Amino acid sequence: MSPDVRHDIADASLAERGRKRIEFAERSMPVLRQIRERFAATRPFEGVRIAACMHVTTETANLMRTLQAGGAELALCASNPLSTQDDTAAALVHEYGVSTFARNAVDRDGYYAHINAALDVRPHQVFDDGCDLVNTLHTERKELLDGVKGGCEETTTGVIRLHQMARDGALRFPMIAVNDTDTKHMFDNRYGTGQSTLDAVFRATNTLLAGKVVVVAGYGFCGKGVAERARGMGASVVVTEIDPTKGLDATMQGYRVMPMAEAAEIGDVFITVTGNRDVLRGEHFEVMKDGAIFANSGHFDIEIDIKTLEGMSVARNEKIRHQTDEYVMADGRRLLLLAEGRLVNLGAAEGHPAAVMDMSFSDQALTAQWLVQAAAGLEPGVHEVPTVIDKEVARLKLASMGMALDELTPAQEKYLSSWEHGS
Ligand SMILES: NC(=O)c1ccc[n+]([C@@H]2O[C@H](COP(=O)([O-])OP(=O)(O)OC[C@H]3O[C@@H](n4cnc5c(N)ncnc54)[C@H](O)[C@@H]3O)[C@@H](O)[C@H]2O)c1
Repeated sequence: MSPDVRHDIADASLAERGRKRIEFAERSMPVLRQIRERFAATRPFEGVRIAACMHVTTETANLMRTLQAGGAELALCASNPLSTQDDTAAALVHEYGVSTFARNAVDRDGYYAHINAALDVRPHQVFDDGCDLVNTLHTERKELLDGVKGGCEETTTGVIRLHQMARDGALRFPMIAVNDTDTKHMFDNRYGTGQSTLDAVFRATNTLLAGKVVVVAGYGFCGKGVAERARGMGASVVVTEIDPTKGLDATMQGYRVMPMAEAAEIGDVFITVTGNRDVLRGEHFEVMKDGAIFANSGHFDIEIDIKTLEGMSVARNEKIRHQTDEYVMADGRRLLLLAEGRLVNLGAAEGHPAAVMDMSFSDQALTAQWLVQAAAGLEPGVHEVPTVIDKEVARLKLASMGMALDELTPAQEKYLSSWEHGS
């Protein structure tokens, strides 16, 4: 089939496999499916063009199908060169007719060429995951800015960058911090990153976690998830932090908290999830054990100082296993870097399970629908998702899992809204 949508993908012959996997993921996305059915009936995006820069995975494909059912004209590019699933990209183009620009392992120039190609749709709305598309719009594609009414940002790092843009008066339209909804970061960042990061470590190394020391750098929502899952598999977990409250929280959860300089000497597996740079660096590589495994699950590939590692090592054995590079140090120690220091759960595994992305992408879909009407009334800057959307997604997800809540009695409702009653 030769689609009449613009695209740049690796291999069209993978389309059927991609479609099967997309449909399989959809089975675990009941909330998004309901929203798609609603959109198909109401067509809220008729005449709306959307450029999206997201991980090109089966779950994202289901978000694209949802927006498409609502009448949107779409262009999708990848938010990370390693996370693109080439079969998903092929299916998006050839099975669903979604304009897609994504090839796994594309180089930096190709990555930005794809962002620019997606922007060529002249978007009214943008979906970003890490703020690279919004950044490109404001630096290289300023001519498109007037047409953009608003957008959504998916991840912690992207929201931080947007706040910095807003603080500098650079952000030209309203961006909604989808990451900050409860139904996103409390579940996607925690349970999604927790499970899929360890899944990636296993797929890459098949290491046994029981009895190992796992060092988790950063005890935010992602770090909590990784630490909980590692402990659940029998690892002794060490946490490194810079925030005293987070450090205290980790301590009271029963983890050892110490500076990375100490943790580096005892760790078997290191996971960085801080959103910060140079968390693992030369002084740490110097003292790590032979066979130490390290990976990053934070958004950008800046958390592990790979340049210094390359300079310190005497040899590099690439891809000794799937997404595993071995660095040989002068004293013979072998250090194992996974997924080139990029988001390991997307580079060496498949990213978050569909069941958790069901919530994040339902937040995205409903926020985009709300933005169609609401954008005109919002100032340029970073805004929150309306609570009503967050609660709606939680309610639908809970119902889809067969759980039900209590309802307040009239007396309880009155009690909670009054101040007269004391002890
Ligand atoms: N892998 C994924 O699929 C995935 C999913 C969601 C978010 N993310 C990314 O993961 C990163 C973390 O997200 P989050 O939601 O947990 O953020 P968060 O802000 O909740 O947590 C980050 C934590 O790192 C700590 N920190 C900062 N610098 C540190 C340092 N030098 N050493 C130790 N700790 C440090 C902070 O104090 C904070 O507690 C972000 O880059 C985010 O975009 C990745």
